[in-house]
Amino acid sequence: MLMCEPVHYRIDYEINPWMRRSNRVHGTRALDQWRRLRVRIEELGVAVELIRQAPGAPDMTFTANAGVVLGGRFIPSNFRFPERRPEEDHFIRWFRRRGYRIETIHLPHYWEGEGDVLPAGERVFAGHRYRTEFRALDHLEEALGGELVRLELASERFYHLDTCFAPLGGGRALYAPAAFTSEGRARLAAHFDDLIAVEPEEALRFACNALVVDRHVVMNAGCPATAGALRERGYEPVESATDEFIKAGGSVKCLALMLDAFAPRGDAGAP
Ligand code: ARG
Repeated sequence: MLMCEPVHYRIDYEINPWMRRSNRVHGTRALDQWRRLRVRIEELGVAVELIRQAPGAPDMTFTANAGVVLGGRFIPSNFRFPERRPEEDHFIRWFRRRGYRIETIHLPHYWEGEGDVLPAGERVFAGHRYRTEFRALDHLEEALGGELVRLELASERFYHLDTCFAPLGGGRALYAPAAFTSEGRARLAAHFDDLIAVEPEEALRFACNALVVDRHVVMNAGCPATAGALRERGYEPVESATDEFIKAGGSVKCLALMLDAFAPRGDAGAP
């Protein structure tokens, strides 16, 4: 996974309903929470790669939004808001230097990477409306060589798919019902045998913004009902406090980009 130590993380602008410039980030606490999260992820046997945060890119620590990695190809995001566009070049350079082929999605269509695009088994789910444009998904389908399951988002607080949906493997997923349209909910129900509805209060604590590593589910601390539902099904919740990041509208999953989540058949894999 790719992570970015939040050395320049701040709330400098407001591009989602969570962000308030007056609600300042506590710098050392943010660093401490991020470092603990990194250790927890590494303890699960995941290799963490790092990109250095650029001073003019305060949200760059949310690496999930960089794009998606398909074997040896990197498809960078076209950020919706100009505030985050400076990140694009930094991520592109990181991947190019490591030998990835860079494939862009046609402008002006905006989309925000793994924040809105999550693989689950044979399927890839894509959220759209707030940060990813419906039309951008046509281009992404070409790049992926397959159809996406499109889910329209319905609540501004859940502006990226990864804020309200987490596939757990084995036909299971966590989701926040209020974040989807009735059509989206029906679509999810058709694809999962066990859709776990996260209670509203915990959905707002980013319980769905979880990182799944086999039977371990790394998630924000303070979501006991969700943790219990996971335990009942044989998962092991791994809690990690991310309050400083919730100030910007992100939690565990937003802080990591998968480098090997999509394994297209016949692809040689990462360089
Ligand atoms: N402040 C960032 C933004 O609004 C937070 C990004 C959260 N990332 C995510 N994958 N949900 O763009």
